[in-house]
Amino acid sequence: MGSFHLKLPFLRILFLTFATAGLFLDSEARHHKHMFKRHKHHKHDYPSISLPPSPQPDDPADAPTSSVRSGVFDVRSFGAVGDGFTDDTEAFKEAWDAACSCSDSESAVLHAPLGYTFMIQSTIFTGPCQTDLIFQVDGSVVPPDGPDSWPKNISKHQWLVFYRVEGMSLQGGGRIDGRGEKWWDLPCKPHKGVNGTTMPGPCDSPIAIRFFESSNLTVKGLRIQNSPQFHFRFDDCHNVHIESIHVTAPALSPNTDGIHIENTNNVEIYNSFISNGDDCISIGSGCYDVDIRNMTCGPGHGISIGSLGNHNSRACVHNVTVRDSLIRLSSNGVRIKTWQGGSGSVSGVTFDNIRMDEVRNPIIIDQFYCLGKGCSNQTSAVVVTDILYSNLKGTYDVRSPPMHFACSDAVPCSNITLADIELLPSVGEMVLDPFCWNAYGNLESLTIPPVSCLLEGVPPQPLLASGIDQC
Ligand SMILES: *[C@@H]1O[C@H](CO)[C@@H](O)[C@H](O)[C@H]1NC(C)=O
Ligand SMILES: *[C@@H]1O[C@H](CO)[C@@H](O)[C@H](O)[C@H]1NC(C)=O
Ligand SMILES: *[C@@H]1O[C@H](CO)[C@@H](O)[C@H](O)[C@H]1NC(C)=O
Ligand SMILES: *[C@@H]1O[C@H](CO)[C@@H](O)[C@H](O)[C@H]1NC(C)=O
Ligand SMILES: *[C@@H]1O[C@H](CO)[C@@H](O)[C@H](O)[C@H]1NC(C)=O
Ligand SMILES: *[C@@H]1O[C@H](CO)[C@@H](O)[C@H](O)[C@H]1NC(C)=O
Ligand SMILES: *[C@@H]1O[C@H](CO)[C@@H](O)[C@H](O)[C@H]1NC(C)=O
Repeated sequence: MGSFHLKLPFLRILFLTFATAGLFLDSEARHHKHMFKRHKHHKHDYPSISLPPSPQPDDPADAPTSSVRSGVFDVRSFGAVGDGFTDDTEAFKEAWDAACSCSDSESAVLHAPLGYTFMIQSTIFTGPCQTDLIFQVDGSVVPPDGPDSWPKNISKHQWLVFYRVEGMSLQGGGRIDGRGEKWWDLPCKPHKGVNGTTMPGPCDSPIAIRFFESSNLTVKGLRIQNSPQFHFRFDDCHNVHIESIHVTAPALSPNTDGIHIENTNNVEIYNSFISNGDDCISIGSGCYDVDIRNMTCGPGHGISIGSLGNHNSRACVHNVTVRDSLIRLSSNGVRIKTWQGGSGSVSGVTFDNIRMDEVRNPIIIDQFYCLGKGCSNQTSAVVVTDILYSNLKGTYDVRSPPMHFACSDAVPCSNITLADIELLPSVGEMVLDPFCWNAYGNLESLTIPPVSCLLEGVPPQPLLASGIDQC
């Protein structure tokens, strides 16, 4: 094969690097999206060229493979150096362009090989591509080190962005390291100012990996660590499979959620480990058909639905299952949080077979969620209904009740079901009574500790009618 630098001119526009906060929509890009549209079948199992999981430093003298296997685009063939200092952004962009426009093989592989550390700037990888694309990271990928090294004219909201990509797998045995430390230490972050205060000042910190308006995505096998902010964020995506990933950041790193999904449906997240400074997984508005299983979470803030209804927004989340997982050393276990005000609903949520190990609030619904002061109670709320907790066992940290259902005055929670709950204090004998406020539901079996505060039956009609919104 000849040089990959020979490209059709229109492929140039598939790369957008930019300075503004959001993603801009290029009308030419929209046009080409249609040119590329074609029928695809979804494949969960992409051919794997994975190398051993933990990259060991190779001999860097190892000659770059200039002969490219059909369909494999090694970033070194496009000029990437991989010494951890040289800016390899252009090489990644060119490798993406080449892989993305490759149509003569079943799938195209962009390869960041083992033994190299590639430093790349904030970049948007734009699709759709001509064929299913595998972004194979076996080496390490890092951003510039901290806010001072981040180019002034580039958005500080996001680092690696995949935009309008269909049928892609981000995988490999390598490591994506967000180098978050200098961002977490900005004086604007909680407790980082003088004498532990929080100071005013620029606070934007990049999300490590963001998928936007994309579908049929797989993320598999990678280690992602120390993101400046969320590790993964999916917006407006569908058919998302995340398996066997390992996400780590220190317990005190601010806002480093493991995986956040928003307006995204048909999501499976499984067989993964997440330990960080915020939610393990957070599920935002507009998500449905979400299946989370066999996760190990913690230390961290647990698995959350919300926060929803902020600024009186309408939020809909339904059909979410979290099962067969372990949550340890976390401030929350499974949480549903909504602000006062807002509309919409959270419904059809199942938490099943979850072990809790020293979790402060193992089961919590908080409809009075508020950061800071001055959240007044309002007459509308996001409805919380049809929530099942079954087989949740383990220990809680004795500072707060193991079950906490704080539902809004405006719209009570309804149809909360508890079955096989066994939560014991992690130390001592003192058992704290569950807390309920305006929570309707029933017990399918006796619970430990006993719950006597759930209201029976259904909420009075006028109350229910005032807030009902079927979504
Ligand atoms: C940012 O500035 C650098 C150096 O001035 C320039 O090379 C680059 O093209 C700029 N990037 C954007 C997205 O404007
Ligand atoms: C995504 O996969 C589904 C099947 O799971 C398929 O019907 C659909 O065409 C795929 N979409 C794209 C854009 O590849
Ligand atoms: C920080 O705390 C020290 C010791 O308590 C005090 O002397 C100093 O004035 C404080 N600085 C500010 C800016 O509050
Ligand atoms: C659960 O995930 C772990 C990795 O975190 C894996 O080793 C184990 O095999 C998975 N269990 C099942 C039943 O899939
Ligand atoms: C709920 O979501 C799962 C996928 O997580 C899907 O298989 C199932 O059909 C959905 N149920 C309903 C009632 O839509
Ligand atoms: C909101 O309502 C709850 C429950 O009635 C009450 O405990 C809380 O004090 C109220 N908050 C404000 C700010 O009025
Ligand atoms: C209550 O919720 C359960 C799921 O937890 C659901 O199967 C059941 O249909 C709901 N009951 C009513 C009366 O809506």
